[in-house]
Amino acid sequence: MNILPDFILRRVAANRTHWPRLVHFAARINRIGLYLSAQSRILLKTIYPDTDFSAGNDFVVSQYALQAKVDAVLKRYQADPEAYKYFFGQPYQGLGIAGIFGDRISDYRFDDYELRRFIKEGDRVLDIGCNCGFIGILASYRTGCHATGIDINPHMVEIGKLAAEHLRISHLVEMKAGRLQDYNPETPFDVVLSFATHWTDDNNYRVSIEDHMARMAGYLKKGGTLIFETHCNDVGNAEFYAALEATKTLFSFDGLYKQTDSKTRELYIMKRN
Ligand SMILES: C[S@@+](CC[C@H](N)C(=O)[O-])C[C@H]1O[C@@H](n2cnc3c(N)ncnc32)[C@H](O)[C@@H]1O
Repeated sequence: MNILPDFILRRVAANRTHWPRLVHFAARINRIGLYLSAQSRILLKTIYPDTDFSAGNDFVVSQYALQAKVDAVLKRYQADPEAYKYFFGQPYQGLGIAGIFGDRISDYRFDDYELRRFIKEGDRVLDIGCNCGFIGILASYRTGCHATGIDINPHMVEIGKLAAEHLRISHLVEMKAGRLQDYNPETPFDVVLSFATHWTDDNNYRVSIEDHMARMAGYLKKGGTLIFETHCNDVGNAEFYAALEATKTLFSFDGLYKQTDSKTRELYIMKRN
C-alpha cells in the first residue's frame, strides 16, 4: 500500500528536481516508523507488567535511540562542504535490521550476492570504500567473521560504528576513516569486498582497473577471495571486460558469477593466485 496514490508519486518522481525532497520525506517516514514500532513494544510492556522481555524490547526500542544518534551524524554530514553527497545527504547504504534508511539495502545485497557462501566464522574481511560498512557489519553479525571497513567519508564511518555498537558486535568490527590509497595493512585478508568502488563518483578514487586490482591483490592472502561488484555503466563495456580479463595474471575466475540489482550490475568471485 502506498502512502500516496501511485500516479501522484510517479508524477512527482518524474521530475528529478523533486528527488531530494522525496528522499528526505522517505527518511522522515522511516523515522516515524521506528518511533511507532518502539511505542508498540513499550505498550506491550505495560500490559505484561510481570514478564521480563526487556531484551526483545530493547532491540526494537533502541532502534529509535540509534536513529537519534544517526540523525546527529547526518546533520554534520549534510553541513560538511567537503563531503560528497551520494544520496542527497542520506546514507548510500541502508541497514534493515537496524532500521537505518539508505539508498541500497545491505541486507538484501548480502543475500542476493550469496555472501554466506564465501565468508566464514573467523575470516578477516576487508570492505573497501565501505560507506557505512554495513556489508562487513552484516557479515560479522551473521557469520562471526572479523570485518574491517575503510571509507574516506568520516560521517559514514561514524554511522557504521554506531550500527556495530547497536548490534553488539563492536569487538568484531573495525571502521577506519581514510583514503584507500594510503591504506597499507600489515596482515593480508581472507576476503576483500570491492563493491561499486573501483572508481568513485566523488572523484576521490580514480585509478585504472589494472591498478585497482593490483591493490586488491596486495590486500589478500594467496588463495584469498576478492568479491567484486561492478558499476552499472561497466555492464556491456568491452573495454572494462578486456581490463578485467587482463587481471587473470593476479586472480583466477570463471567469468561472471551473477548479475545483480535487476541485472544492472555484475558480481565476480575471484581467487588470488
Ligand atoms: C558508490 S559508493 C560504494 C559504497 C559501498 N562499497 C557499497 O557498495 O555500498 C563509493 C564509496 O567510496 C568511498 N570513497 C571514495 N573515494 C575513496 C577513497 N579514496 N578511499 C576510500 N573510500 C573512498 C565513498 O565515500 C563512498 O562511500
